[in-house]
This record gives sequence, structure tokens and C-alpha cells, in this order.
Amino acid sequence: MSNDFLETMAARRSSSSVTEQAPDDDELARLLAAVVPVADHKGLRPWRLVVHRGDERLRVGDALARGDLGKRHEQDPKAVAKLRKKTTRAPLLLAVIAERRSSSLPKWEQEAVASGAAHLLELALFAAGWGVMWRTGSGTDTKAVRRLYGLHKRDRLLGWLYVGGIKPGSSSKAKKRPDPDEFLTRLPQE
Ligand SMILES: Cc1cc2nc3c(=O)[nH]c(=O)nc-3n(C[C@H](O)[C@H](O)[C@H](O)COP(=O)(O)O)c2cc1C
Repeated sequence: MSNDFLETMAARRSSSSVTEQAPDDDELARLLAAVVPVADHKGLRPWRLVVHRGDERLRVGDALARGDLGKRHEQDPKAVAKLRKKTTRAPLLLAVIAERRSSSLPKWEQEAVASGAAHLLELALFAAGWGVMWRTGSGTDTKAVRRLYGLHKRDRLLGWLYVGGIKPGSSSKAKKRPDPDEFLTRLPQE
């Protein structure tokens, strides 16, 4: 395996603030070619993405505000506007949805595939030079948001990849990372 590949993986970082540039659908499709080989028990492909650009992001923001504020949604326009605006922090939002496709395979295994796909996509976008941040929020698993995406009870929204251009001058200093040795463990003594 090339060192470049591992170095890119080790350098991955999230960008909380991005520019208004974003990959177009053709580029997304090219990057997804590196994602679809994600390990997948029984090859169920239990995930999909929803692409949001422009004003459609406000529909997501509105559903998040409804989910978050509940009854206060009607009475608190300032809070609604604040929550709504959050989805315009990046020009492109990719909602990641885990769809349970089989009742014979545990749900968590299918969600693990969807989560793996999201991680790979985040990495692929970073490797291609885009700024990305995976975000959720307290409104994510609410009725209003689930309804927006037409989710069935068996499905789960894993959040959104917020994607945009990396801001010039944003720090490229290596982030402090955990010691990899901490993750290598052994069975408890018998
Ligand atoms: C499922 C998931 C949901 C997340 N939701 C949020 C979020 O809502 N807000 C946030 O600030 N970070 C969130 N994060 C964390 C960021 O995406 C990011 O990983 C974190 O800020 C650490 O930065 P780094 O990726 O550069 O190490 C989430 C991460 C995951 C995997």
C-alpha cells in the first residue's frame, strides 16, 4: 500500500467552516466509486445519500427546527431562523440514510455498513481536497426530519456531511491524535 494513501488518511480533519465551492454531481459520482466497495454483509447496500444544494438546505433546516423546537416552532421565529440557517453553513449537504434491507441480518450490522460508507465518503472528499464535517443535532431523529426524508421505522438518518471548499489560510497543522497503541487490546486473563 502506498504511503501517500496512509498519510492522507492520517491527515484527515474536519472543516467546520467552508467556502461556497462544492463538488458537482459528476465529481460526487467519481468519489462514490471509492466508497461503494465498503464492507457489506450479504451485499445488501443498506444505505443511500440525499444531495441538498441551494434553497433545499432550508427545507432541511426547517425540519430540524420543527423537530428541535416542537410546539415552540410556531411561537419563536428567532429560534427557528437560527436553526434553519445552520444548514447553510456549507454549499452542499449529503444526508446519509441507513436503510434496513433484511430482517434476517441484525439492524446494527446494516447501520454499520451505512456508517462505514459515510466515513469512506468523508475521507474521499477530504482526499479530493474538499472541506467536510459530519454533523447531526438534537433534531436529527425527530418526526419532522424523519418525515422530510420519508423514512420507515426501520431506517435511520445518520446525519449530514457538510461539504465545501477549504478556506484559504485555514490551519493545516497536524491535529493531536490519540496514540494508536491505546486501541490494541488483549483478552482479559482467565
Ligand atoms: C455521527 C457523527 C455525528 C457528529 N455530529 C457532530 C455535530 O453535530 N456537531 C459537531 O460539532 N461535530 C459532530 N461530529 C464530529 C465532527 O464531525 C468531527 O469528527 C469532530 O469535530 C472532530 O474533528 P476531526 O474529524 O477533525 O477529528 C460528528 C461526528 C460523527 C461521526
